[in-house]
Amino acid sequence: MTFTADLIEKFNKQITLELEASMVYRQLAIAADAQDLSGMAEWLRHQADEEIVHANKFIDHVVDRGGDARIGAIAAPGVDSELTPVQIFDAALKHEQKVSEAIRELYRACDAAGDLSSRPLLNWFLEEQIEEEATVGEIRGQLERVGDDGSGVLRIDARLAQRPAETTENEA
Ligand SMILES: [Fe+2]
Repeated sequence: MTFTADLIEKFNKQITLELEASMVYRQLAIAADAQDLSGMAEWLRHQADEEIVHANKFIDHVVDRGGDARIGAIAAPGVDSELTPVQIFDAALKHEQKVSEAIRELYRACDAAGDLSSRPLLNWFLEEQIEEEATVGEIRGQLERVGDDGSGVLRIDARLAQRPAETTENEA
């Protein structure tokens, strides 16, 4: 039995962290909406939905392996409502970095316990986090580049509005 109670507890923490990430993105979307940046708000809400998909992937993994998947207490996002666009994406990037480290930690714990069966899922997440950090970091960099140029911010906002819709359920 490589899927120990200790590992299940760690996966449950990750499930909770993904749901927490969803709430952080929702709160950041509100901050964007408050500044009439509707494309940015829309993009952040899609990101919030994607975090639910992530939580579902971890839940499925725990349940499929006979574990008791449990959602823990979700911390309040603690996001300032007066954030500038750069600060919004800065907060998003910091949270993604936190999630990435948590996944690496989970990977190390599974490896230490000889739990090879978690590897495919965790490999998927490691790759996903590289992409997430790169995407959020790029938007943050572009916003920083345009600075106080309102038309530049609106151009980025218009581009972010074009993100395709995703579902909150596992497509795969
Ligand atoms: Fe995630």
